[in-house]
Amino acid sequence: MVWSLQKTPELTDLQFEQWNKLLEERTGIQVSAHQRSFLQLQIAGRMRELGIKYFSEYFNQVSSGLQGMVEWSILVDRLVVKETSFFRHRDSIESIRQLVQNRINNQDMTESFEVWSLGCATGEEPYSLAMVINDCFELAGLEPYYGITATDISQPSLQSAREGMYGKRKLEPVTAEERARYFKTLDETGESYQVSDKLRDRVCFSHGNVMNLGEMPMVKMDVIFCQNVLIYFRRWRRREILNELASRLKPGGMLVIGLGEVVDWTHPELQRLSDERIQAYVRS
Ligand SMILES: C[S@@+](CC[C@H](N)C(=O)[O-])C[C@H]1O[C@@H](n2cnc3c(N)ncnc32)[C@H](O)[C@@H]1O
Repeated sequence: MVWSLQKTPELTDLQFEQWNKLLEERTGIQVSAHQRSFLQLQIAGRMRELGIKYFSEYFNQVSSGLQGMVEWSILVDRLVVKETSFFRHRDSIESIRQLVQNRINNQDMTESFEVWSLGCATGEEPYSLAMVINDCFELAGLEPYYGITATDISQPSLQSAREGMYGKRKLEPVTAEERARYFKTLDETGESYQVSDKLRDRVCFSHGNVMNLGEMPMVKMDVIFCQNVLIYFRRWRRREILNELASRLKPGGMLVIGLGEVVDWTHPELQRLSDERIQAYVRS
């Protein structure tokens, strides 16, 4: 029988455990029992493309060797949640505008303003940050002096982020003014847009797994922005990652996470901002 006509194979309990463990070890992401069918569908879909019949055979393939790593990077892109949007949480993004404006007003912008967006998906988050930061420099009549490093585990997302091309609907959260300043239209009908070169030149997209922060060289950051990533991780792991991120901030640097993503975390060198609309911490 042709593979495509066969029923999607079912993961046994043991196989589900195995795949779940592999995914969590490698990405930190935990799949709950009610997401089992999603996991099964994605894995089986990829097996179908490769003509592999058995979960065990595919499991062995992705768990070993260089070829396995290549295959893993294809699969992982299908297993992660990549939902994102421009200005997904406006208040958090606007808190960075405030920080940059204060620095400029206090003439405290002697070095490049460095931002790290972790789990940047297809780029909407780092480009939103770039828009507000760029605004501040331009409004003050200053030459923009900032850089954004944006990392993610998904290679296809990073590729699309680098291109910076988005359909009209994606731009709905962007104001008309922001659209005019920071996007160019790619067709006459106004259906597709590209982020302007002046922003794209400021954002460097790079592959990075939050589970391997030790391999990432970002230090002395002015801002670390990590939203809607840790939510898929176990609580103890979220705290460990945040402790590491705290150490990558400059004094006066700010860590911004998703509101409510971590409830029981404090750090001796960080102080939470009193603004309850955001979850942001400043390093002393
Ligand atoms: C739901 S999206 C959030 C995107 C953006 N931060 C936002 O809030 O709109 C989660 C992103 O985290 C990435 N991700 C998941 N696990 C990761 C890991 N271990 N290391 C790096 N990125 C990861 C996914 O690939 C995905 O692009």
